Amino acid sequence: MKNIYLVGFMGSGKSTVGKILAEKLNMNFIDIDKLIEEKEGMKIKDIFEQKGEGYFRELERKQIEAVVKQEGLVVSTGGGLGANLDNMNLMKKNGDVVWLDVSLNTVLDRLKNDQDRPLLKQPTEKIRQLFEERKNVYRLANIRINADKKTPSQIVEEILTKIKRR
Ligand code: S3P
Repeated sequence: MKNIYLVGFMGSGKSTVGKILAEKLNMNFIDIDKLIEEKEGMKIKDIFEQKGEGYFRELERKQIEAVVKQEGLVVSTGGGLGANLDNMNLMKKNGDVVWLDVSLNTVLDRLKNDQDRPLLKQPTEKIRQLFEERKNVYRLANIRINADKKTPSQIVEEILTKIKRR
């Protein structure tokens, strides 16, 4: 079974949806951010603070390069991982990439009390810019799901239908 990669902006529901999807398909679930935190022994926000964003992006690249060598996984990725063209191409070569497309309003509302995401600590206008820019790469995913205002189970059902059609 080919891997299934979930990409999308912060707060789009990748981890929640990924876990349910993996269960339904009887596949293993992994969360790249969690793997990075375990390997580094540090929280992502501390990696950003102490080592910088560039260092974190390098960790993401290394991690995804390792993951594409495996099979049968549902993989939840960080919002920046799937917005990188090289990472996107790598994932598409090895599996199906699913973009959970949500509106910026939904993201801002869901994460209004979040303290863990360094990139949300900037003015809303900057977040909006990042959100728009990233769509240029997210839209290269094999499958796009309009994930706004849907429950995780509804999203999973839609992914299953679309994957079967491929
Ligand atoms: C990031 C998203 C986060 C995490 C890190 C950077 C981003 O993951 O990888 O804070 O660049 O969008 P989520 O998408 O799970 O929030």
